Amino acid sequence: MPPVNYHEGRFPPVDLKWPALIPLIGPAAAAVARYDGMLAAIPNPSVLLAPLSTQEAVLSSRIEGTQTTMGEVLEFEAEREVSSSERHDDIHEVLNYRAAMREAELQLATLPFSLRVVREAHRVLLGGVRGQHKAPGEYRRIPNWIGPPGCTIETAHFVPIGADKLDGAMGDWERFAHTETQDRVVQLAILHAEFEALHPFLDGNGRLGRMLVPLFLWQIGLIRQPMFYISAYFEARRDEYYERLLAVSRDDDWTGWCCFFLEAVRVQAEDNLTRASAILDLYQKLKVRVAKMTRSQYAIQALDWIFERPVFRSSDFITSVAIPAPTARRFLRVLKDGGVLTLVREARGRRPALFAFPALLNCAEGREVL
Ligand SMILES: Nc1ncnc2c1ncn2[C@@H]1O[C@H](COP(=O)(O)OP(=O)(O)O)[C@@H](O)[C@H]1O
Ligand SMILES: [Mg+2]
Repeated sequence: MPPVNYHEGRFPPVDLKWPALIPLIGPAAAAVARYDGMLAAIPNPSVLLAPLSTQEAVLSSRIEGTQTTMGEVLEFEAEREVSSSERHDDIHEVLNYRAAMREAELQLATLPFSLRVVREAHRVLLGGVRGQHKAPGEYRRIPNWIGPPGCTIETAHFVPIGADKLDGAMGDWERFAHTETQDRVVQLAILHAEFEALHPFLDGNGRLGRMLVPLFLWQIGLIRQPMFYISAYFEARRDEYYERLLAVSRDDDWTGWCCFFLEAVRVQAEDNLTRASAILDLYQKLKVRVAKMTRSQYAIQALDWIFERPVFRSSDFITSVAIPAPTARRFLRVLKDGGVLTLVREARGRRPALFAFPALLNCAEGREVL
């Protein structure tokens, strides 16, 4: 079968089948609104939801084959070293993902949602090791294609727009992002699919396209923080995700794609809400418990610190928690004996002990990992 080519002249879609979309729009919007209500209740979302942001970076990167886990990423951050070099590259991709999100967030504080912000995020995403030969921050100047590993442009499933037409098409994409449309989540669905069909960069298009989800929802005011985690849905249904994207170009099936996307948003908004409220619950319960356990004015300070770094070296805790060192040492003992922290690795020679905060990691993963 010859590859499907980019749907020249058919963006934005003009004949969406609204009767099919409408039953999905209400529930998706309601779920996003409920999740946003939860965001309003969280005192410090960038700290409390940090593990969810890390997990999103892991899952979004996993869709195209990066193999690492949140536990490995956090352990690497704590230890600043890792055993195998293959894992090292994977972990770096995940850390770059988080950094790219932070960069975009920072830029969007002063700039409008724009191609400039997209390119800057790409520059960070592909900065360093694996991406450095993939023109970070620049559109491709050569053709690319999507298909089975090792395929050629003839045996590919899909061939995105030609590089010569990319500039104009990206301009259209940006203009569409700034159009007031009938429904904002449907608009986001279209923006994601078009971004993937254009495939403006040599690599990283999938990840960047998924980052657009929280960024756009935030920019148009549907959520109050740039925190929305969509990738678990796509990762669990990868074949359908790719097939729906392909059907846009092949069959002009924008409606089918939008239905799939609306359902993804609803399911993920509900899932995000469950996880975020579990984390907030945990925080509030531990505030009381850790105060009782430590009988110290520094209890909350220590708790906030471990929420921010749920895998850490004892020496980092002691030097950076801003609590007198003997007290900080006592805290580690008390929190371990009380079951809040687990000792991952004993101190040996000059190597400090490694601790984890399993209850938080489990909330983020939605299952028992430790
Ligand atoms: N048929 C298709 N049409 C358009 N986009 C597709 C299709 N199949 C897959 N994709 C998108 O392409 C992405 C992979 O592109 P790539 O540039 O390698 O991104 P990344 O490196 O971030 O995984 C997938 O994650 C998906 O979003
Ligand atoms: Mg790739």
